[in-house]
This record gives sequence, C-alpha cells and structure tokens, in this order.
Amino acid sequence: MSFWKSLPHPFFMLAPMANVTDAAFRRVICKYGKPDVLYTEFVSADGLCSAGREALLIDLKYSEIEHPIIAQIFSAHPDKIFEAAKLIAELGFDGIDINMGCPDKNVMKQKAGAALIKQPELARELMRAAKAGAPNLPLSVKTRIGDVKNTLNEWLPVLLEEKPEAIIIHGRTRKEMSKVPARWETIKEAVEIAKGSGVKIIGNGDVVDVTDARNKVKETGCDGVMLGRAIFGNPWLFSEKIPSIKEKLEVMLEHTYLFEELLGEHKSFHIMRKHYKAYANGFDGAKELRIQLMQTENVADVEKIVKHYVESLH
Ligand SMILES: Cc1cc2nc3c(=O)[nH]c(=O)nc-3n(C[C@H](O)[C@H](O)[C@H](O)COP(=O)(O)O)c2cc1C
Repeated sequence: MSFWKSLPHPFFMLAPMANVTDAAFRRVICKYGKPDVLYTEFVSADGLCSAGREALLIDLKYSEIEHPIIAQIFSAHPDKIFEAAKLIAELGFDGIDINMGCPDKNVMKQKAGAALIKQPELARELMRAAKAGAPNLPLSVKTRIGDVKNTLNEWLPVLLEEKPEAIIIHGRTRKEMSKVPARWETIKEAVEIAKGSGVKIIGNGDVVDVTDARNKVKETGCDGVMLGRAIFGNPWLFSEKIPSIKEKLEVMLEHTYLFEELLGEHKSFHIMRKHYKAYANGFDGAKELRIQLMQTENVADVEKIVKHYVESLH
C-alpha cells in the first residue's frame, strides 16, 4: 500500500533543497524532529542514465531512519524518467517525484522543471513514464501555479488526469521565483479544483513553523504542507522544540561530523558554511561566531570554535 494513504491528517513534509537537504542534514533532521515525509534533493534523470551516474548516486543516498523518503528527479525525456524510475525503485525509495517547478536557467534550458508548465503533453508523458518504470511506487509532482501568470485552472487538471498520488504546489509562478509572498489563496483554489479526484494537494511557500503550517491547512483545506527554508539552522522545526544555544551548536557540530562521514569525499566542505550562518543566529555573540565559522575549512576548525564557545557559556 502507498505510504500516502497512511499519513496523518494534516501531514508535514520536508522540501527538497539542492545542496541543503542532503543525506547528512536529513539524518540530523530525523533525529531531532522527523517530518512525516522527506524528499531528496533533485537529481537529473538524464545524468542518472549517463556515464556520470556514479557521481549523482551520492544525491540518492539515504538511511533507514528517513523512510518514507521520496526521490525527486527532473528531465524532459520520458525514456530517461523511465530508466531513473526503475533505479529509484531498486534503491528502495518509497515514492518518486517529478520536478515541474524549478525556475533555474540550467534546468529550464533542458525544457525540464518549470518549463513543463508550458508543455502539458510532455508533462503527461513524463508521468506515465515514471509509472511504467516503477509501477509499484507512488508518483507525486512538485510544481508552481503557472509560468508568467497563474494558470492553475488549466495546468492542475492536466496533472490530475494522470492521477498522481499527490501534487505539491509552490504558491508562486515560475517568473516570480521567490520574490513575492507565496499565494496561499491560490492553493485554496487548487484544493477546490482537485476536490473529488482523490489526489492529495500539498501547499508550499513561506511557511515558518508547524503552527503556521496548521493554520495554512485550516485556511485552505489542503492535505499537507511542505516546509523548506524554515529548516535552515533548525533541525527541531518539525518537533517544535526550542533548543538552547549549547544544543544548537552541538548539533551543528554533529551535522558537520555526518557531512564529513557521508559526503566528505564527494562534496565541498563549503556547503556547510550555509548551515553555519543559520545555526549561529539569533543569540548574543552569534555574529562573531559566524565570522569565525565562515573561515573554517574542515571539521577540526569547527570543533575548536564550538568547544571554545560552549566553554565560554559556563
Ligand atoms: C537552496 C534551495 C534549493 C532548492 N532546491 C530544490 C530542489 O532540488 N527541488 C525542488 O523541487 N525545489 C527546490 N527548492 C524549492 C523548495 O523546495 C521550496 O519549494 C521553496 O523554497 C519554497 O518553500 P519555503 O518557502 O518553505 O522554502 C529549493 C529551494 C532552495 C531555497
């Protein structure tokens, strides 16, 4: 049975974020505040079918604690989606998601991501290919409300006809990127359009915490909410716990160890700096700490800084 059927109502999911929600951060998140569903970062299906596949497999790494976890892929080629879906099933994922919302130029150039909003027939073919490649895995699609304007009235019915298990709607157009507030009134309209289809509608955009997410469910009637940037520096987001400064810094260090252990060979340590900026925030002395952390090059540097700071708290 698809895990989507046994989720609580409402449910809360972790958004895919490239170079942020990697295997290390997701493991930390599961330990301190596990969401109901997790997503991998997006992975190119074309790349997974190419000689460069080995390098991309690192983005599909996950640990058992993360179930249910969905692998997100992007492509404009049904044959590549088919092959990637087969691989994702073999790797033991709980679901597949096709990205139809990414506004990044590199992805758009490939006619994938948000470019699919203007290619509804291709979007349908991709969904069918995913189902054919992994007939036992539930399919979801993550998209936006339109290309340059809100066209959800036409776009959503196209997706619904292919009967995915769920559709995640980021409440902005492709053109709006992340520059305007997410339009939750449009997510409410999406819920109306999808009524009776049996497809779950999940809202996304600007949600700051679980209380905010619950309110959005009340306002819109959506089945669940996906949270992204609110997880930065706050792996407790889904447990609603407020950590002490000491806890925050110790978990930042734990995150660093895991990054080194799981991804160190494959990814630049500089990825961690984005996290340090978020962890070292909102308390006395955070700015000075941040400046020091921005200069770190390895785990030992971070260890030293955190140890020194935590001792100074006593
Ligand atoms: C750094 C970063 C990376 C992202 N990478 C992805 C991605 O790989 N796949 C995807 O569907 N969306 C991606 N997104 C979009 C988020 O999943 C989400 O839709 C967006 O941030 C809005 O939600 P939020 O306001 O809760 O962050 C990314 C966003 C950010 C900030």
